[in-house]
Amino acid sequence: MKECLKIIHDRVSIRSFKPDAINDELLTEILKAGNAAPSAGNLQARDFVVVRSEEKKLQLAKAALNQMFIAEAPVVVVVCANYPRSMRVYGERGRLYAEQDATAAVQNMLLAAHALGLGSVWVGAFVEPEVSKILSLPDYVRPLAILPIGYPAESPRPRRRYPIEELTHYESW
Ligand SMILES: Cc1cc2nc3c(=O)[nH]c(=O)nc-3n(C[C@H](O)[C@H](O)[C@H](O)COP(=O)(O)O)c2cc1C
Repeated sequence: MKECLKIIHDRVSIRSFKPDAINDELLTEILKAGNAAPSAGNLQARDFVVVRSEEKKLQLAKAALNQMFIAEAPVVVVVCANYPRSMRVYGERGRLYAEQDATAAVQNMLLAAHALGLGSVWVGAFVEPEVSKILSLPDYVRPLAILPIGYPAESPRPRRRYPIEELTHYESW
């Protein structure tokens, strides 16, 4: 239990990566951790696109407003919401659920990467149609996060958080 909290609190965003490759077993651990996240009705309305080719990583970095550290990472995973998988059961509400299913997976993947000695960062700033085109995504799928993953080449300090009292409300706002 303590270990889990340590992983949560020690994780920081990593934006500089060593060139060392990530083997398939490690990557599979991270993907499985993503899909171990909760999902509405256990419908798992999320998909993962794994990118290892230099060409596509470069294209993704450019589509992410030139965040070139994305191309530096040995592997990049794009986490997508799969709308019909949830909407066929939940209707319009399923749109929100699919996005929540996918983003819950993202957080698990960031924690899993850290637990495995790797680093990553949640990249949300990108031009969606460009990412969809680069990855040939079907139109019912929305890319929500780009996760470059690799061995950290930096050790950033933890970013500050608001004191929890400022964010917490008891009984009513
Ligand atoms: C929805 C979302 C979008 C983000 N987009 C980016 C991004 O495009 N580029 C980037 O470098 N970091 C991005 N981040 C990472 C945040 O900058 C980072 O999590 C925050 O500064 C706190 O730092 P920490 O992760 O080291 O605790 C994003 C995080 C979230 C949750």
